Amino acid sequence: MKALNTHEAYRKVLAREFSAVTAESAMKWGQLEPRRGQYDWASSDRLVEFAVANGQSVYGHTLVWHTDLPAWLPRDGSREELRELLREHITTVVSRYRGKVWAWDVVNEVLADDGSMRDTVWLRELGPDYVADAFRWAHAADPQAVLFINDYGAEGRGAKADALYRLVGRLRAAGVPVHGVGFQAHLRADTMPPGMEQNLGRFAKAGLRLAVTELDVRVRLPVTEKKLEQQAGVYRRVLQMCLDQPACVSFTVWGFTDAFSWIPGYHRGYGAACLYDSGFAAKPAYTALRTLLTQRRVIASASP
Ligand code: XIL
Repeated sequence: MKALNTHEAYRKVLAREFSAVTAESAMKWGQLEPRRGQYDWASSDRLVEFAVANGQSVYGHTLVWHTDLPAWLPRDGSREELRELLREHITTVVSRYRGKVWAWDVVNEVLADDGSMRDTVWLRELGPDYVADAFRWAHAADPQAVLFINDYGAEGRGAKADALYRLVGRLRAAGVPVHGVGFQAHLRADTMPPGMEQNLGRFAKAGLRLAVTELDVRVRLPVTEKKLEQQAGVYRRVLQMCLDQPACVSFTVWGFTDAFSWIPGYHRGYGAACLYDSGFAAKPAYTALRTLLTQRRVIASASP
């Protein structure tokens, strides 16, 4: 967000290369409402204005998360108070951007790696129904918005993906307005999630929209040309899967330049995860995605 305000090259590339934007932090609760009852919309509004000015759509991230919460939020207050605060928060944010944000990550990372519900303040205080409530409140605030459940580590086959599949099935069966599943896809250059294509396929078959919401592909440092080629392959395969799957409606990379990537701060020994290096030079991964998208366009426009 700082980069968007201060960095000319960042703004230029963002405007030129992408048809959609997502807030990396600016729409998280802790940032939006640093003091109780006083929303600070400056950063999130600026991002939306940037998108409008550049003909881009905005994917909203995120309404309910267990971290990046405001310090003032009562962690062990009354259940009713906390539930009301959550309802108010979702309603306020979604209403403000009604008609401007086309999709929301309504809940983020509600599952633990073993597939159980993640132990969070929301689960502890409100019980598992907070997930359904969050979707209903978001839907009421903007009936047009496409509502996603977003998580990491559910890209390939495994306990977490299975649990996510079951959870979404239960929610939909109960009439909860869950429209899609977001796969964060914070991946590594040296492996692909096992069975990712089939895994995406079963969610699509169940009638859900799919989104790749936070793709980055980290490499173990030091960077070599070979690792960047390998990284390009992972980026390309994930885009290919999204393009091959009509249900896949959105493809987002988590930052586009190594200059501002979250990876080095959160994954020790890894870095260089983005499409551009820290000097804003395009990497092989950029070329791989661009080539794939260009081929697609040619094929699409050649068909009658
Ligand atoms: C990260 C941001 O990139 C960081 O700048 C921030 O400090 C912490 O959050 N999954 C998510 C994202 O859903 O919101 C996280 O973003 C990365 C992991």
